[in-house]
Amino acid sequence: MSGTEAGPRLTRRRLLAMGGGGALGIAFAGREALSAPPAGEAAVPFHGRRQAGILTPAPGRLAFAAFDLTAEGSANLEALLRDWTAAAERLMAGKVVQAPAGTAPADPGEAVGLAPAHLTVTIGLGPGAFARGTGRAGLRPTPLQPLPVFQGDRIDAARSGGDLCVQACADDAQVAFHAIHALAHVGRGGVNLRWLQTGFTRSHSGKGPHPTPRNLQGFRDGTANIAATEASALRRHVWVGNEGPRWLRGGTYLVARRIRIHMERWDATPLALQEGVIGRKKDTGAPLTGVRERDLPDFAAKNPESFLPVIPMSAHVRQSHPSNNRGVRILRRGYSFADGADPGTGDLDAGLFFIAFMRDPGRQFAALQARLAASDALNDFIQHRASAVFAVPPGISPGGVLGGGLFA
Ligand code: HEM
Repeated sequence: MSGTEAGPRLTRRRLLAMGGGGALGIAFAGREALSAPPAGEAAVPFHGRRQAGILTPAPGRLAFAAFDLTAEGSANLEALLRDWTAAAERLMAGKVVQAPAGTAPADPGEAVGLAPAHLTVTIGLGPGAFARGTGRAGLRPTPLQPLPVFQGDRIDAARSGGDLCVQACADDAQVAFHAIHALAHVGRGGVNLRWLQTGFTRSHSGKGPHPTPRNLQGFRDGTANIAATEASALRRHVWVGNEGPRWLRGGTYLVARRIRIHMERWDATPLALQEGVIGRKKDTGAPLTGVRERDLPDFAAKNPESFLPVIPMSAHVRQSHPSNNRGVRILRRGYSFADGADPGTGDLDAGLFFIAFMRDPGRQFAALQARLAASDALNDFIQHRASAVFAVPPGISPGGVLGGGLFA
């Protein structure tokens, strides 16, 4: 696909997404042009070394979509990525995209008048973007392949995989959903929506440091995560280095798992047992061997009476701790989900939409998950129902295209 913007090769889709308009007569209007956003609702910068939505603080709402490329989209992937880049930049700035008069609006419109709401749009490429016959099969990074099926998994194929992903996070559910809606619209003809998952965490309010959010089991989730300030840990565990293809260096991989929590069983479990399953205290988030949330767990500590380990052998934090996994760490950034109830039983279809970023999904997530699937006490209360993996290209400077390095 040529990199030019003019001439008969311009599809309607490209017209809709392109910024500037100019001679083509496309006009764009900021959402603020129609209604001023509330003061202080800042936009997250679109340009930078990394894509937003990885290290940026997680706002309260998630809309995450996977798309499959159509034959047209596959043949024009570069143009699609250019369109999405232009549209994502505008969306994150709180702007809408408008089509010329007389055609259907390019922007669906539900975010008109809304603030940027810290929207981040993060774009990734799945293994299928490099399938045989696309002309890009040779460019697929080796670690980008569907994850194996782990013990206990009950994976729903229709909610798994995808050739492309868009993660939209915002303070406002309507803004997050709108980003997916608008990109699906911009990509029409080139992509079909494969699955969509919405999610939530507690919303921030006020200033200052925020406590670690609680998941739907009521426990603080994210305590021992890699922090955005841990530059050397991020280099070591999250950003693709020289081992990866040039276009992906400085980027990362995203693993998504839809994990159902059997809420009714969990809610009926005594507190001491819940804490033993996790290995932390429910109220403070402290390890069972500590007092404060940030205290380091002492896996060697034994109960003086029973001589049993204070943090049970099968506790989630013991099983997932780097010291028990050859130093493996990942950057977790998941959201809770609640998608109604099972007909008949009335059991909640809710849980954790686990999202994690890492340098190598096979060596990190798959190794960790193989261990958890075999020995984690949490397995009595959870089940992995969907799975996906994407390569997330690095950020760009003005004029760049997300994933554009693939075509260099
Ligand atoms: C519904 C499923 C899950 C729930 C409810 C859950 C919950 C938790 C909680 C409450 C903690 C302790 C607080 C913290 O450090 O964040 C934790 C830690 C952790 N979890 Fe999970 N988790 C789930 C699935 C997973 C999966 C699938 C993985 C990776 C394959 C994972 C990896 C980790 C890691 C690496 C830690 C930190 C361990 C440490 O260094 O102390 N978790 N999780």
